[in-house]
Amino acid sequence: MTHPIRIAPSILAANFSKLGQEVRDVVDAGADWIHLDVMDGHFVPNITFGPDVIKSLRSYTDATFDCHLMIAPADPFLEAFAKAGCDILTVHAEAGPHLHRSLQTVKALGKKAGVSLNPATPERALEYVLDSVDLILVMTVNPGFGGQKFISAMEEKIRRIKAMVGDRPIEIEVDGGVTPETAGIVAAAGANVLVAGSAIFKGGSIEAYRTAIGAIRKPAEKGR
Ligand code: DX5
Ligand code: ZN
Repeated sequence: MTHPIRIAPSILAANFSKLGQEVRDVVDAGADWIHLDVMDGHFVPNITFGPDVIKSLRSYTDATFDCHLMIAPADPFLEAFAKAGCDILTVHAEAGPHLHRSLQTVKALGKKAGVSLNPATPERALEYVLDSVDLILVMTVNPGFGGQKFISAMEEKIRRIKAMVGDRPIEIEVDGGVTPETAGIVAAAGANVLVAGSAIFKGGSIEAYRTAIGAIRKPAEKGR
């Protein structure tokens, strides 16, 4: 199944003092989804925001809220993120021993379920949950910070995951170091959702965001 190319700006790189406006502006500029990076200072060496902040952003747009949970454990918090208005809840395969249960919980909450893999985690971690996921998030940097360099070995991993997925209706998302230079590579390998933080939130205006989104979307669409 072929999903459209979707550009999902990560608000990690936005101006935190006016997040609601940033979300509205980037959607006006052509963003498809809003990528929400939740970090706990434990699973990853950084702390960002939680469900209350997401809830406060919900009224600014109808765009899909794509929530990337870099927290361990995740299970005790899934309901709060669902109630905050997230549409997709992605948990890390490395975040706990009961990935299948986490995915079942997300589904029971009526949300789309995603699994993310750190760069060192092999794609076989997905083998027995493939029929329980709506989205696979391939980390192309080590999670925790924006502005890092794309790890090129992940190109092959995306390709292998695309082959594993076959014709299941699973979206393949990449996150980390996505730029106009790497967008074509990841799309050619099989990704359709491209997360980008620092490559999009620069310039501070809707026009600048529109240009930056286009500069990623174009090579991605061409690379398919
Ligand atoms: C990293 C986050 C990413 C990050 C991407 O842990 O999951 O979403 O914001 O930032 P860039 O696009 O700057 O690499
Ligand atoms: Zn992310």
